[in-house]
Parts: sequence; C-alpha cells; structure tokens
Amino acid sequence: MHGQLLVSRDAGVCEVRFNRPEKRNAITFAIYQSLVAALRDAQADDSIRVVLLGGEGASFCAGNDLQDFLEGPRFTPAHPVMELLRLLATYGKPLVAAVHGPTVGIGVTMLLHCDLVLAARSTQLSMPFVALGLVPEAGSSLLLPRLVGRQRAAELLLLGRPLDAAAAQHLGIVNRVVDDAALADEARALARALAQQPARALAETRRLLHGDPAPVLERIEEEARIFGALLESQEFRERVRGFLSRGRAT
Ligand code: COA
Repeated sequence: MHGQLLVSRDAGVCEVRFNRPEKRNAITFAIYQSLVAALRDAQADDSIRVVLLGGEGASFCAGNDLQDFLEGPRFTPAHPVMELLRLLATYGKPLVAAVHGPTVGIGVTMLLHCDLVLAARSTQLSMPFVALGLVPEAGSSLLLPRLVGRQRAAELLLLGRPLDAAAAQHLGIVNRVVDDAALADEARALARALAQQPARALAETRRLLHGDPAPVLERIEEEARIFGALLESQEFRERVRGFLSRGRAT
C-alpha cells in the first residue's frame, strides 16, 4: 500500500492512517486513490467489521493538498475525491475516526460520514471553504446543519472559525475528548468493541441511523459542480498561492 497511507488489520478492525506528517497529512490525488482502494478492500473483506481512520504527526488531516488543487487534473465527476465522497456516503461498515491537531476541510467533512469520532485535546476543526473562495463539500452543507442546526452550521461554514475539541463535542461532531497520548489506544479499543458486536445487527443499525443516502449523494454532486467551477477562479488561486508561499517572500 502507498507509503503515505498506512493500512493494517487486527481483531476485525482495518486501521487506515494518513502518513504525510511533513504536510500535515494534506491529501493528494494519489492518497485519495489509495484511500478509496483501502476502504473498498475493507468493505469486501468479511473478516473486517470496522474501519478506523487516524493520522500520523501533528495533525489528523489538513484537508485537500492545495498544491494539487492548483496543478492537478481538473475537478470532474471522475476525480478521485469524488470517488471517495460517494464511497463514504454509501459505506457499508462502521467508520470510527481518531482526530488530533489542526484538522481542516475534508479532514473535518469526512467525520460527518463517520459513526464515532474521538478527538484529542489538541484538535482544532476548521472548514475555511468560503475564506478560500470555495463552497463546502462531502455533503457537509446538508449533513452539518442536520447534525448541529442551521445557525450553528452557518457559523462554522460561512465564517470558517476553528472549533476546539470541547466545542466540537458540545456540538455533537465528536463523541468524546481524550488526552493526546491516549488517543490511539482509546480509538482502537472503541473500534474493537464495535467489531465484537453481532455483525448483521451492527451493519443494519448503522444503515438505519444514516438513513437514505440518495439526498446526500445528490448534494455531494451539487456541491462538486460549484466547487469545481470555483477552483478555477482567480480569487481561489490567489488565496492558495498566498498560503503556499508564506515565509518564502523576501
Ligand atoms: N495543502 C498543501 N500543503 C499543506 C497543506 C495543504 N492543505 N496544509 C499544510 N501544508 C504544508 C504547508 O505548506 C507546510 O509546507 P512547507 O513545510 O513545505 O512550507 C507544511 O504543510 C506544514 O504546514 P504549516 O502550515 O507550517 O503547519 P502548522 O502546524 O503551522 O499549521 C495547518 C497547520 C493545518 C493549520 C496549516 O498548515 C493550514 O492552515 N493548512 C491549510 C489548510 C487548508 O486550507 N486546507 C484546505 C481546506 S479546503
């Protein structure tokens, strides 16, 4: 498996960890492809009951790799990000996430597709789509207001202000907050506990909790049409160049 994505299996749990710590686990197209492959393999493997997502280094995930957005292939419905989003919205096994540090963009919106989320105290969640000249993705414009209410979602999505671990727990985006040093062990214990539940009952209950995926899939496509167009905008490109060239100006 791709070195920037670590995949291991133990006790019915497939653990998938972002491993690009020098770039705060920003997700490149290649990592999306590996992630989609890992999730599909886990779904097809009858010995796997639960998938646990985590990240190496100082951050769970700093979102999409911004350099890739500037230089990568055009954003189309066949884009690897889109494959991931459709897969997350229709996934057949419980997803657990262990987050820590600054977690941005799709690093946050993927949590809305997870069933249980543990956050270390260092967690700061932010969705600065609008500040970057973009719109939310991953169905978050539908899932976030459903979860936290529209006014609170507006604060998070229109202003893009970061949310610390305690506030994220208060809003219900995160189940539990733990010390950073305990995060990996607690998340594995939780994933294993889920994996020991009767498989069929677990899968059916999860499906019922998530409800009909059709509106979420529809919203993912609608967001993506706007997102793709905005990626081409001058405003977005200038903001991203500004971020990527920080500290390099004389
Ligand atoms: N895409 C590409 N590179 C990224 C990145 C991203 N999303 N996030 C971080 N990086 C890179 C930085 O450019 C830097 O690279 P360099 O060492 O070559 O200069 C490296 O990762 C470390 O980032 P840095 O900003 O120095 O770390 P930090 O701990 O001070 O801050 C973040 C962490 C996540 C708060 C900050 O990196 C950030 O805001 N990243 C952008 C997040 C974002 O806008 N994502 C897209 C949302 S749609």
